[in-house]
Amino acid sequence: MIQLAASILSADFAHLADQVRAATEGGTSVIHFDVMDGHFVPNITIGPPVLQSLRKFTKLPVDCHLMIENPDQYIGDFAAAGANWISVHQEVCRHLDRTLHLIKSHNCRAGVVINPATPVDTLTEVLEIVDYVLVMSVNPGFGGQKLIPNTMRKLRQLSDLRARRGLNFLIEVDGGIGFDTVGEVVRSGGEILVAGNAVFGKGDPKTNAEKLLKTAQDAMMVKL
Ligand code: DX5
Ligand code: ZN
Repeated sequence: MIQLAASILSADFAHLADQVRAATEGGTSVIHFDVMDGHFVPNITIGPPVLQSLRKFTKLPVDCHLMIENPDQYIGDFAAAGANWISVHQEVCRHLDRTLHLIKSHNCRAGVVINPATPVDTLTEVLEIVDYVLVMSVNPGFGGQKLIPNTMRKLRQLSDLRARRGLNFLIEVDGGIGFDTVGEVVRSGGEILVAGNAVFGKGDPKTNAEKLLKTAQDAMMVKL
């Protein structure tokens, strides 16, 4: 099943509640919450206090994408603020197995993220533990970038691995997903589609979400 995870990074923060409501009415089923620290990525965004406020007006699962160094130090705070899913970057975790178990100990779904230059092979030993793998289709740090086509082959690789090993993690994709690229993303194996600019960039988030999901579903029909 295809799910849309609206990334609030491109939302108007002064009207966050309205924007999330509109995206939800358009069929968004996950709220993607991008956390950047200015160290791991060259940008700074939002943290637990914003999540705590967001939690009050949405029942949808909140998917915290931690683009930060030292995630172990903050996982408890994000869980306490209302995160349902938490993902950490393979590139920053010296003890990835421990970090993933830490996320689970807070009753959150645990995800691992790989940057465009990080191979799927680096995840071999953690695929049994994770609930989802997030494949970055842009270099993390900013919304509104262009999807890097090479990253698409990792989606196929992951779905093959999953079938071969009888696992059931979900495959999430993040960056540059829009009307022009979403077809290729789902045909390559993307299941949870993160979209910021395409949902909140311009126009009505409800209509944008609806259209994006429809384009994705139509592309799946062609695939079948
Ligand atoms: C990028 C973030 C993304 C971003 C995607 O570092 O992780 O979640 O919001 O934005 P778009 O959909 O605009 O590429
Ligand atoms: Zn993200």
